[in-house]
Amino acid sequence: MKSIEKFIEGIPKTELHLHIEGTFEPELMFEIAKRNQKKIPYNSVAELKNAYKFNNLQEFLDIYYAGANVLITEQDFYDLTWAYLTKVHEQNVVHVEIFFDPQTHTDRGIPFDTVIKGIRSALEDGKSKLGITYKLIMSFLRHLDEASAFKTLEQALPYKDWISAVGLDSSEVGNPPSKFERVFAKSIEEGFLTVAHAGEEGPAEYIWEALDLLKIVRIDHGNRCLDDAKLVDRLVDLQMPLTLCPLSNLELKVVQDLKEHPIAEMMKKNLLVTVNSDDPAYFGGYMNENYLGIAKALDLSKEQIATLVKNSFTASWLTDQEKEMRIREVDAYLNRIS
Ligand code: ADE
Ligand code: ZN
Repeated sequence: MKSIEKFIEGIPKTELHLHIEGTFEPELMFEIAKRNQKKIPYNSVAELKNAYKFNNLQEFLDIYYAGANVLITEQDFYDLTWAYLTKVHEQNVVHVEIFFDPQTHTDRGIPFDTVIKGIRSALEDGKSKLGITYKLIMSFLRHLDEASAFKTLEQALPYKDWISAVGLDSSEVGNPPSKFERVFAKSIEEGFLTVAHAGEEGPAEYIWEALDLLKIVRIDHGNRCLDDAKLVDRLVDLQMPLTLCPLSNLELKVVQDLKEHPIAEMMKKNLLVTVNSDDPAYFGGYMNENYLGIAKALDLSKEQIATLVKNSFTASWLTDQEKEMRIREVDAYLNRIS
């Protein structure tokens, strides 16, 4: 009989909601800042970590964008991505579908090509050397305007084969999905899947808009859907995946305590919920810590944890055959271990 910690560590997992810029650990940030002769407004790793206290999404985003400022070269983007992959490899993550935010870098004069080539070559190495398969999602920053999103889409077109989907992130309240209806329509025309952060801090109405106007195939966060029973019915009918991020919700005060996290109630309602880390360098944990956090707070059984893991494979963009194989592996692990 394994402890819940060991059970979570060993189970093969997939991550579907991860911002690569949110994996920038302070140690690597200082190292890259030094080689690029960039200043960080903190004297030490400890001082920087001490600044990671947030009351809301915006307070986090201000620090997250400032941190990303030291990323300049293709090697920097490679190193950032490789550090994430080696970390999650230790946690038995076998497949990742990750976001990158090109505008965070192109707005500082870093070419789009530099960003995507660095990330992509680390992902390719992750596949060949660590056996981690992947999909890449290009996220538009919703605090910027539609024209900037269109320009970014244009820059991405030569790399269409490398990018599975477009997404929408950054400051939610006041920047509804409707602001990006046309750029998402164009993205779909170009062959991209679509996802969007919705209902993290914003209202249930933004989730309706993301579904109806942006034609999303997955909702990032979606916590606030529980405010609207009709919306819950629709999401259950569609078996629309929700990529929940427990430690992120705790650190950004979306929930005050993990015991209040909506994931258990969502499971009861048959919503297709998944566990993810969002920005692990800033929120105190990668995949295992997120699973363990909710497992302990909500007293989840091993079967419930295995269901969450299988939900993630179901919600991924692996082929049906790959999904079946991964789900069989999870069942075999559950039968062997418990
Ligand atoms: N960008 C990085 N993390 C984010 C989050 N949790 N919500 C919105 N935008 C983000
Ligand atoms: Zn996110």
